Amino acid sequence: MKSLKIKLIATVLGLFLMLSFSHGINAQTTGWTIAPKYKTMKNPVATGKESIADGKDLYAKHCKSCHGSAGLGDGPKASTLDANCGDFSSKKFQATADGEIFFQISEGKGKMPSFKKNIPEDNGRWAIVNYLRTLAAK
Ligand code: HEC
Repeated sequence: MKSLKIKLIATVLGLFLMLSFSHGINAQTTGWTIAPKYKTMKNPVATGKESIADGKDLYAKHCKSCHGSAGLGDGPKASTLDANCGDFSSKKFQATADGEIFFQISEGKGKMPSFKKNIPEDNGRWAIVNYLRTLAAK
């Protein structure tokens, strides 16, 4: 009877650990509730030298501390968060539509701040989307 109890406790504990671990790993793209309209929303800021440079400046100021200079999720602040910042160079991230990324930047989630106030111009957040495209793994 006693060993059964121990087994049960071990199983529950194991399941709990597994769940929290997989949550950490998948945090980047799971759990975002993004309205379908964002998937097809057109980026009003044409990509090009100028908008990529604007996006890069904003990224350095507002995002790099967590997401890292190459967008790998390894900025100096990342290790202090109990959340995974994602990897902008990954195929999985790059498959996210422009509008969905715009939504993520605008609204935030959990440890990811909302940038509607700190980057009030919509076009600034769209320019960052253009910059994030340049971080795709070659
Ligand atoms: C305080 C740290 C922090 C800062 C600053 C920050 N982020 Fe994040 N970001 C996160 C975390 C943590 C997540 C994962 C959130 C989650 O899934 O719960 C995230 C997720 C994201 C995602 C979704 C990634 C994916 O794989 O789906 C995007 C896009 C993003 N951030 C862009 C930005 C941009 C652009 C900026 C700057 C304007 C920024 N972030 C600033 C912490 C940060």
